[in-house]
Amino acid sequence: MRNLTTTPAWAALTKHASEQADITLNQRFTADADRFEKYQLSAPSWFLDYSKNHINDEIMSGLLALAESQKVSAKLASMFNGDVVNPTEGRAALHSALRYQGSDPIKVGGRDVMPDVRSVLKQMEAFAEKVRSGTWLGFSGKRITDVVNIGIGGSDLGPLMATEALKPFAHEALSLHFVSNVDGSHMVSTLKKVDPETTLFIVASKTFTTIETITNATTARDWFLDSKASDADVAKHFVALSTNAENVSAFGIDTDNMFEFWDWVGGRYSLWSAIGLPLMLSIGPDAFNRFLTGAADMDEHTKSAPLGSNMPVVLALLTVWYSNFKGACTHLIAPYDQYLHRFPAYLQQLTMESNGKSVHIDGSDITVSTGPVVWGEPGTNGQHAYFQLLHQGTHLIPADFIVAAESCNPCGNHHELLIANCLAQTEALMKGKSTDEVVSDMKAAGVAEAKIDELKTHRTFAGNRPTNTLLTQRLDAYALGALIAMYEHKVFVEAAIWDINPFDQWGVELGKQLATTIYDDMSEAVKAGVSVSSHDSSTNGLINRINGMRHKLA
Ligand code: F6P
Repeated sequence: MRNLTTTPAWAALTKHASEQADITLNQRFTADADRFEKYQLSAPSWFLDYSKNHINDEIMSGLLALAESQKVSAKLASMFNGDVVNPTEGRAALHSALRYQGSDPIKVGGRDVMPDVRSVLKQMEAFAEKVRSGTWLGFSGKRITDVVNIGIGGSDLGPLMATEALKPFAHEALSLHFVSNVDGSHMVSTLKKVDPETTLFIVASKTFTTIETITNATTARDWFLDSKASDADVAKHFVALSTNAENVSAFGIDTDNMFEFWDWVGGRYSLWSAIGLPLMLSIGPDAFNRFLTGAADMDEHTKSAPLGSNMPVVLALLTVWYSNFKGACTHLIAPYDQYLHRFPAYLQQLTMESNGKSVHIDGSDITVSTGPVVWGEPGTNGQHAYFQLLHQGTHLIPADFIVAAESCNPCGNHHELLIANCLAQTEALMKGKSTDEVVSDMKAAGVAEAKIDELKTHRTFAGNRPTNTLLTQRLDAYALGALIAMYEHKVFVEAAIWDINPFDQWGVELGKQLATTIYDDMSEAVKAGVSVSSHDSSTNGLINRINGMRHKLA
């Protein structure tokens, strides 16, 4: 049994939460003129304002004491050192090695992994240069104009999100496409846009066993071979990103066209590895290296900054504070940057697949809430959709607002309006609007007394909603690398506090197994012309109904 909730730090935080429950953010700002100076942090490329949170020095000390009692520094060191921090899969989690810029060896099981890391990076660079310069030719001698990445989860969300985020720096003659869903519509609609003579397919799968990816890759290969291409031409149009050379070869991709990575790279942490090839193709090797450097510099910040001025640690502690002491269940990611439109989806996998756990690392039950539901959309769109609930709903929803001082596409006053909206939302969420203010505004506008009485509570904003604001100069490759690494470490620190393993994902297995069973049962039943009865009545009923609808079976 773990003793998280019996630590003195936990007890102190429980006491602070109860004693300070009624202190509002407005009161905290009135009481302390230095709040902004006090609760801010700088890390590579990013400035964090965390003053609009339900914290004071006492609470921050309690949270930092909790981090110390949960040995956060030692656990971080252990991860960076290549120790087996993922015991249920017997693996290290060394995504930091993939972006390491120093010359020291980084060892897994006594072996320096850096020569392999650098060699694959060189292989990627050489390949990317050929495709980008037009010297890698398709089977009919034409240059590649379209790249289709076929992958799912970590083999899709990271490269897709980053390729979108860095679109202003993209190669103009190369279009990137991402197909992930086993729903044939995803592949079919993508294939309609491309030409077999000028398309490169990247089959991205750590395991090379994932049913969605193998199904999509098979459809793409069949489509390719249905053109004038021959089997021998597959080598010019299909490459693989994987740890599984045997399956890559069995699929028909020459392992010379495979970019390798290793089992110590978790799927959702793999963007820095060969899985980043689509991003490198899009922005080029130099920008990709700046992306790695941004992340490496954030690694150094995370390793060396004291806990209280360590950005991922402070943000993780705030999530623990809201999840475990203030009853929050979700966390909003609000990037005020259209190019970050896939960032919330990427963070969903990073945080929810990592910290959606109910047992501690030793297998014992957890008695407190772990990873919150992460969600979001870019601002200002979200304001016209779900922000109503943030402002006047009944749930406490901590939020991260992310914004750059400069636009990558300066145009009129758009960026000033974007920034103004971002800041206005965090101010409104914090300050709210009292009924007195509502009444006086309505009186000033000449609204009748009866109408004011009818509407005043509807128009009142309680405020007191906490937010963080993350600010950078401009969202370039370096800043994006640093931002992603920061969130990776935030997730790790939360896991360290909850004492859970953030690097396994056993929770996805059951559904995969049952899908295989149901797939087999459905097809067998169709062949035999019978009903399925081996599941529960709901699942049987649905299978039989769908078989009936598709095959006119009873
Ligand atoms: O569904 C879970 C998962 O294993 C993720 O963790 C992973 O990112 C994704 O599937 C894809 O796996 P692979 O890269 O092996 O195809």
